Amino acid sequence: MIVTTKKLFEHAYGKYAIGAYNVNNLEQIVGLFRGNIDSQAPFIIQLSKGARSYTNKAFLEGLIRAADQVYPEAIFAVHLDHGDEATCYDCIDSNFYSSVMIDASSQPYEENIAITRRVVEAAHAKGIVVEAELGMLGGVEEHVKVDEANAKLTDPAQARDFVERSGCDSLAVAIGTSHGAFKFSGTQSLHFDVLSQIQQKLPGFPLVMHGSSSVPQEEVARINAAGGKLGGAKGVDASQFRQAAQLGVTKINIDTDGRLVWTRVHREFFLEHPEKFDLRDPGKIYMSEYAKFIAAKNDYLGSIGQLPDVRKFLEA
Ligand code: G3H
Ligand code: 13P
Ligand code: ZN
Repeated sequence: MIVTTKKLFEHAYGKYAIGAYNVNNLEQIVGLFRGNIDSQAPFIIQLSKGARSYTNKAFLEGLIRAADQVYPEAIFAVHLDHGDEATCYDCIDSNFYSSVMIDASSQPYEENIAITRRVVEAAHAKGIVVEAELGMLGGVEEHVKVDEANAKLTDPAQARDFVERSGCDSLAVAIGTSHGAFKFSGTQSLHFDVLSQIQQKLPGFPLVMHGSSSVPQEEVARINAAGGKLGGAKGVDASQFRQAAQLGVTKINIDTDGRLVWTRVHREFFLEHPEKFDLRDPGKIYMSEYAKFIAAKNDYLGSIGQLPDVRKFLEA
């Protein structure tokens, strides 16, 4: 069942965070649904601009609609990840997305507010909710590149003004995470002091943590042992997710970790079976491994086991 993130956030706020997982193909979608049902978790399925143009956005939408029928027990929202203004309008007009993210965080503050406000007006007119971003994560985003030194943490003093004037429904904050597999050159550090100050300025308001893959070291080691070259890859300590949830984070974005599972499965499979060429053989292993990965991640997020209660909450 496709639902709005607004309801999911109301249920989760202060208690747990909902996993927001990026998808690009059929196998990811099947693994994602299976993993969330196995672990009885609500979730957010998110599509980036790159995912929508990988083949044609209609394929992904069709696959998600099909998954909704094949897995009627699933409760999830469909979200546009890191949208520019034009892509937001395209998703708002499609009547398929529950929410969109407008990412104008690379623009000057007033421009970020103005762009976000325009998207909010268009989205709210159709009952769609909007995530915006204030501050800048390090790493690589599709249309913005920010290196670690230039990452700009969210200024708690600006947060309330930004939310009030833009009208956004949730806010992505920069508190030390970054996108991709190489997040920290030194030890990892999440700025919970900044997060706590933001929560004080915006009590009860849903916050979002991007760049939250944990880049498991055993996964990286297996990839490298099977021919990969991912030396120095490092991520966020997932055991900190629940602390972030208590400080108002209701949505945690994970993409890179899923890509690592895919890479590990396929590298190992073809190394062990050089004679094979049926794509369904590694595909089956990947769907099962990705489902296991999702269930384990939901345990860290605290969304594990919440599905029956979310269903009751939505019916009330
Ligand atoms: O934040 C970016 C997400 O990981 C999506 O990545 O733009 O390569 O699909 P992508
Ligand atoms: P990761 O690269 O850490 O998986 O972050 C994904 C993300 O923030 C998608 O918006
Ligand atoms: Zn992101």
